[in-house]
Amino acid sequence: MGILTDDMKRVVRQQRIGFVATVCPDGTPNLSPKGTAAVWDDDHLLFADLASPVTMENLRHNPSVEINLVDLYSRKGYRFKGMAHIVDRENEPGLHEEIFQAYENGIRGVHQVRLPARAYVLIRVERALPLVSPAYLPGVTERETRETWADYWAGVHQDRMEQLEERG
Ligand SMILES: Cc1cc2nc3c(=O)[nH]c(=O)nc-3n(C[C@H](O)[C@H](O)[C@H](O)COP(=O)(O)O)c2cc1C
Repeated sequence: MGILTDDMKRVVRQQRIGFVATVCPDGTPNLSPKGTAAVWDDDHLLFADLASPVTMENLRHNPSVEINLVDLYSRKGYRFKGMAHIVDRENEPGLHEEIFQAYENGIRGVHQVRLPARAYVLIRVERALPLVSPAYLPGVTERETRETWADYWAGVHQDRMEQLEERG
């Protein structure tokens, strides 16, 4: 049995943005979103390098990485810390092809992404912790929380669509 539980896998597979933190050479953090965040196996998460020059450069020097995925409706998620392994076509053609096919066809529990990737990043998860909003006071249920935030996001969406409509 690996480090990733069924619920962790569920959250990663449902979400479409993971925030990836790496360490810059000067010790400052670098954080950027990855819509390709996915589960690879019981111990590894995955994302594609579509347009992440700083993340990739940092990982070449320091493979430490953290990725957070939070469900904006339930206000719950997970943070995963681990070590990154860069898979590029030149060095690992077999594994690169396997990952390419997973994204291309939306198989192996990886959602379909048909955008050109320069490389893939496998994260061997070493620490996985839950993230739960402090607003979960005793008695507050996930069902109530989901309804509250579903309303909120529906309102945000509606307002923005109206603004865009006005702009023509
Ligand atoms: C919603 C969203 C999803 C994104 N998904 C990815 C992704 O999966 N892979 C990627 O390389 N870039 C992705 N990007 C683009 C990078 O986050 C963006 O180019 C960023 O500036 C890269 O910064 P970095 O080089 O510091 O990582 C995404 C951006 C957004 C807004």
